[in-house]
Amino acid sequence: MLIREFYPSDIAAVKKFTDESIGLNYYSEAELQECLEKSISADVTCSFLLVADSGEILGLRLAYPPGKWNKGKGSKLRPDLWNIPLDKTAYFQSLFLSNKVQGQGWGPKLSEKSIEAFHKLGALGIVTHAWKESPNNSSIRYLSKLGFQSVTTHPEYWIDVDYECVRDGKPCRCTAEEMIYYISGAQ
Ligand SMILES: CC(C)(COP(=O)(O)OP(=O)(O)OC[C@H]1O[C@@H](n2cnc3c(N)ncnc32)[C@H](O)[C@@H]1OP(=O)(O)O)[C@@H](O)C(=O)NCCC(=O)NCCS
Repeated sequence: MLIREFYPSDIAAVKKFTDESIGLNYYSEAELQECLEKSISADVTCSFLLVADSGEILGLRLAYPPGKWNKGKGSKLRPDLWNIPLDKTAYFQSLFLSNKVQGQGWGPKLSEKSIEAFHKLGALGIVTHAWKESPNNSSIRYLSKLGFQSVTTHPEYWIDVDYECVRDGKPCRCTAEEMIYYISGAQ
């Protein structure tokens, strides 16, 4: 298994992976193309994949550097509650691992690669919307271990996303916890 940058040639395989792990049609191929474009700034790619020796995609960390995003997948965002400006803030979009490799530390490793890229680009912090209903609260647990702190809670954050949630079907009624990580003592 290895961690490497997300390339344009990976789009079809990543779509198959996100259909299975997040929910059918959470991402279209066109949206994944946009996500990849939003991942790149000054020739630095901030999104990474975990790939098996066979070539199968086992994990995805989508991450956007400052200046390349202004909202997450849902419409709610509270920059007024952060101590840094939106245009200096990076975004952790999605992190998903295949069931086969969860709980082995790959999620934090993928995220560390994105954090290294954000450092190079001078980000002051990272915002994310953690999935509160993730199995065993693994989403908030792994983010807290990385140093993220809670900002606010958004009930039914993904309700307007037209996809089949693996937990609820359609519509998704899951809750997002907006969380922030301040880089280099920026708070
Ligand atoms: C959340 C996720 C990305 C974390 O990555 P990871 O590589 O599994 O992270 P870790 O190995 O550091 O595990 C984090 C914690 O979650 C637990 N955990 C991870 N996957 C789990 C699972 N499927 N069931 C129960 N607990 C799990 C780990 O045991 C660990 O617990 P600890 O804090 O007591 O040690 C990954 O588990 C995943 O893809 N989960 C499903 C999708 C998801 O929730 N994505 C985040 C959306 S915002």
